[in-house]
Amino acid sequence: MGLKGRDLVSIKDLSKQEIESIISAARRHIPVAEGKRTSTLLDGKLLALAFFEPSTRTRLSFETAMLRLGGRTITIADPAVSSVAKGETLSDTVRMLSGYADAIVVRHPNEGASRLASQVSEKPVINAGDGAGQHPTQTLLDLATMEEHFHTLSGLKVVLMGDLRYGRTVHSLAYALALFGAHLVLTSPPALRIPEHIRSDLAEIGADIREEADLRRAVQDADVLYVTRIQKERFGDLAEYARVSSGYRLDPSILEEVKPSFIVMHPLPRVAEIPSEVDSSSHAAYFRQAFLAVPVRMALLSLILSGQPGPGGG
Ligand code: CP
Repeated sequence: MGLKGRDLVSIKDLSKQEIESIISAARRHIPVAEGKRTSTLLDGKLLALAFFEPSTRTRLSFETAMLRLGGRTITIADPAVSSVAKGETLSDTVRMLSGYADAIVVRHPNEGASRLASQVSEKPVINAGDGAGQHPTQTLLDLATMEEHFHTLSGLKVVLMGDLRYGRTVHSLAYALALFGAHLVLTSPPALRIPEHIRSDLAEIGADIREEADLRRAVQDADVLYVTRIQKERFGDLAEYARVSSGYRLDPSILEEVKPSFIVMHPLPRVAEIPSEVDSSSHAAYFRQAFLAVPVRMALLSLILSGQPGPGGG
């Protein structure tokens, strides 16, 4: 697999086989991610983390991944204390960072920002979320979570719930799941339906997709419920946000009717959409999902920065 030196801006940048290889490599990174083994695979490598939007998991799991592999990081975590606050453009910031680091991870509120960054950077750019666009590395860890639980990605029935309009995680995930022959069920408030351009991408690859307004009916025979937060920060009108988010919450009694192997996932952060009483359920997979961010990003960084998948991968 030739990921060395490549950008990852959209999940469409990866083939099905490349996704499978990253997930397989991630499995072998788990002991290092857990601190049970050590690695120096990325000794001497430097990763720039350029975050122009808030993040906990993505930024810290990229940083953890790099440190666990013996590499190092430099970070813009708060644009207010970088020269962006003086009016510096994203292009200039990225061009400069590409002279400092071996790869750049970018999160930005504008859709298309990572694509722009990749066009001006001499080093690989990894999209860590661009507005309501894409979040491809989240998709890799989402798939790794499903693969670990079900031992396959083929033909899963996945319900995507919530903010399908602005939720970048579902835009990337729906496409990848369709590549693996998933049956997709969409359930969202009418104002937050999946955008037409994502639908047409899904149609192009022959996705099996339907909408179901009734969540109880949607999860019947399902394998996964993927819950998303209503993306308050993307609403121009907060009254509209209050209207669509009101009462948006998973009713735990729904879990009494699902298959024993059924899992609930969420990219996190959650607000109120999954009540904390679900956390102790055997169906709750979202904290395992958050942990798997580390080995998945270790595998990805290993492949992009060194061309090596990591332990046991040659
Ligand atoms: N899942 C995710 O992107 O989380 P953060 O916003 O905390 O990075």
